[in-house]
Amino acid sequence: MAKTPDYFQGKTLFITGAASGIGKATADVFAREGANVVATDIDEAGAASVAQSVQHAGGSGLALCCDVTDRSDVDKAVAAAMDRFGSIDFLFNSAGSAIKRAKFLDIDEKLWDKTYDLNVKGTFHCMQAVIPHMLENEKGVIVNMASNATRTGGAAKSPHYASAKGAVHTLTIGVGREFAGQGVRCLSLSPSAVDTPFQHISSQEMLKASINGNPMNRMGYPDEIAELVLFTCSDACEFINADTLYVTGGAKA
Ligand SMILES: NC(=O)c1ccc[n+]([C@@H]2O[C@H](COP(=O)([O-])OP(=O)(O)OC[C@H]3O[C@@H](n4cnc5c(N)ncnc54)[C@H](O)[C@@H]3O)[C@@H](O)[C@H]2O)c1
Repeated sequence: MAKTPDYFQGKTLFITGAASGIGKATADVFAREGANVVATDIDEAGAASVAQSVQHAGGSGLALCCDVTDRSDVDKAVAAAMDRFGSIDFLFNSAGSAIKRAKFLDIDEKLWDKTYDLNVKGTFHCMQAVIPHMLENEKGVIVNMASNATRTGGAAKSPHYASAKGAVHTLTIGVGREFAGQGVRCLSLSPSAVDTPFQHISSQEMLKASINGNPMNRMGYPDEIAELVLFTCSDACEFINADTLYVTGGAKA
C-alpha cells in the first residue's frame, strides 16, 4: 500500500512482457489503483486484451507490440507511451524466460545468446530508453525481474537463465546506485517458482520437486509478485533501492 492515498492515480506504468503471468497480474493491480498502464509484449493480441481489462478496471490502458531484444522497437514503444501519457513514472521489466531447461553441458551458443538477449539486453534496452524521461521528472522507479535462481545457480536445469538473472541483479545495483541522487530508484525481485506459463518448460518432476521443497508447499501466485511491484513503486518505503527482494515462501532452492 502507498503512504499517500490515491498515490498511483494518473501515474504511468510501462510494463514489458505484460501479456502473461506476472506482467499481466501487475497491469491488473496498477489498474485497480487508477494508474495508466502501457502494456507491451511481443504477443500483440495478449497486450491488447490486458490494456482492455485495464480500461474496464477504470485505468487507462495502451497496448504496444514491442520486442525488448530490439532497441528500435523499445525506443518506438517508449516514444508512443510518452506521446500518450506525457511521462513514465514506473518501469516494470517483466519480459523474461529460461527459453528451455538444459543441464550445463547441454547449453549451446544459440540458447545462451537467446537467454541473455531477452533477459539481460532486453532489461538494458528498456532502462536506457526510459531513464532519460525519469531524469527529466527527477522521479521514477524501475523494477526488474531477477530470480531466486541467482542463489541456486539453476543447477542441472537452467544455469544459462540463472546467470542471466545474476547479470540483471548486478545491473540493477549499478543503475540504482548511479541514479539514486537524481530521484530514480531501481530494484529487482527474486521469486522462486511462480505459477505462470513460464513454468510450461518444467517437467512434472521439476514442478513437484519445487513444490515439495517449499515450506509453504506451493508455488507463488502472480498477484503476490504484482502487489510487491506496487509496494516497491509506492512512497511507502523509498529507501528500497539497488537491491533485490526475495519472494520464496521460505524456499532456498
Ligand atoms: N514464473 C516463475 O516461476 C518466475 C520465477 C522467477 C522469475 N521469473 C521472471 O519473471 C518474469 C515474468 O515471468 P512470467 O512468469 O510472468 O512468465 P510468462 O511466460 O507468463 O510471461 C512472459 C511474457 O514475456 C513475453 N515475452 C517473451 N519474449 C519477449 C520479448 N522478446 N519481448 C517482449 N516480451 C516478451 C511473453 O510473450 C510473455 O507474455 C520473467 O522475467 C521471468 O524470468 C519468473
